[in-house]
Amino acid sequence: MGFSTYFLILLWVFSELSTTRDAHATFVFHQTTRDVTNFGAVGDGKTDDSRAFLLAWEAACKKETNIGKVTVPSGKTFLVSPIEFEGPCTSTSITFEILGNIVAPPKAAWTTKSADDWLSFHRVDGLTVAGNGQGMIDGRGESWWKHALRFSHCNELQVRGLKHRNSQKNHVSINECNGATISNLDVRAPAKSPNTDGIDISASTNLHIHDCLMATGDDCIAINGGTSNVHISNIACGPGHGISIGSLGKDGRHDEVEGISITNSIFTRTDNGVRIKTWQGGSGFAKNITFSQITFVAANNPVIIDQYYCPHKKCTNKTSAVEVSDVRYSALHGTSINNNATINFSCSKTVPCTNIVMDDVDIESADPGHRSTTAHCINAHGTARVVHPPVDCLRS
Ligand SMILES: *[C@@H]1O[C@H](CO)[C@@H](O)[C@H](O)[C@H]1NC(C)=O
Ligand SMILES: *[C@@H]1O[C@H](CO)[C@@H](O)[C@H](O)[C@H]1NC(C)=O
Ligand SMILES: *[C@@H]1O[C@H](CO)[C@@H](O)[C@H](O)[C@H]1NC(C)=O
Ligand SMILES: *[C@@H]1O[C@H](CO)[C@@H](O)[C@H](O)[C@H]1NC(C)=O
Repeated sequence: MGFSTYFLILLWVFSELSTTRDAHATFVFHQTTRDVTNFGAVGDGKTDDSRAFLLAWEAACKKETNIGKVTVPSGKTFLVSPIEFEGPCTSTSITFEILGNIVAPPKAAWTTKSADDWLSFHRVDGLTVAGNGQGMIDGRGESWWKHALRFSHCNELQVRGLKHRNSQKNHVSINECNGATISNLDVRAPAKSPNTDGIDISASTNLHIHDCLMATGDDCIAINGGTSNVHISNIACGPGHGISIGSLGKDGRHDEVEGISITNSIFTRTDNGVRIKTWQGGSGFAKNITFSQITFVAANNPVIIDQYYCPHKKCTNKTSAVEVSDVRYSALHGTSINNNATINFSCSKTVPCTNIVMDDVDIESADPGHRSTTAHCINAHGTARVVHPPVDCLRS
């Protein structure tokens, strides 16, 4: 080719470079990193960097055919308003690398009174949101969004190595995702902050959640309707409300949850430990649920099945209920600060709990002077082997 063609190509390359201002673009063949600072992000914690984040996202998501990547560099704090990172992307997979800090603006600075989500990813398949254990998502204790970090319709999602601080509502929310691995998160909010679930899951399937530390004011992990095949392991929960399945069947809803395993986890000074909660009047089921290798340290209400869930005490009695069955508790040990009903199975009269299997469970009082604990059990059927306190409605 002639000199002028060469010149034109060079010119085109430079104009591409200057529009993206991404010096890596030509040199890293398979993974072009879009650093948000190359798109105008300042990172002083005061300037609103949302637009730069969106531009970097657009470049990584819509201008790649192979692997897209956005980098939030370390050593800086980026103030970001509620934004939605939209897919589908043309890149086959995309990494959002968070090495620095992302902070929410104060409520006063935001024009509408509330937002559903602060940082949300929608319809992005093959997404990885990863830190190196240092990157932090800081909600600053504001409460005008429902979810700090929300993933909806994101298949084959990976989230790992992030710190989450002071979200006043749900920290991480996963909705309608198939295939996700969430690991090495460090989530903390004050024990008294309401509705600060660590990870909130709904309508999703095939999830693995492991190696997370969660100290929040609400559930460490909540599993809601439409969810199946969730494997949770190595979670340190507390303070917080433990790990909950439900609440299910609210306002007569039909909810289905099945194939959940929670293993190798510790609950320290939690309000509730492992809990299944359903409202009266709903339908559907919660079944095939296994809790194993669980340690309780001064937990309040360590083991609960509650088919009369009614947090606001204004519920009328109904006969229908979400059916709870095939729940296995194996190797649960530790202490409770509530000696009364350390195991509380409160099942529906019309739709009792069936095939509840307990094997090797020992929960003692956290008060050394008061070692005896009791269980409460109505309308639950199944078997208990080596269980203390004794659960009288199960066969031994
Ligand atoms: C129970 O759930 C597990 C996943 O936790 C799954 O592998 C297994 O096949 C399920 N069993 C039944 C009987 O559905
Ligand atoms: C609901 O049922 C409980 C237990 O059977 C009973 O004590 C209570 O009075 C009932 N409440 C209403 C509003 O019927
Ligand atoms: C334990 O719970 C039962 C049933 O709710 C109640 O009757 C009893 O008074 C409670 N005992 C203590 C010591 O709180
Ligand atoms: C057990 O749980 C039921 C349902 O939430 C509740 O009404 C009851 O008070 C609990 N029992 C004890 C003894 O705490």
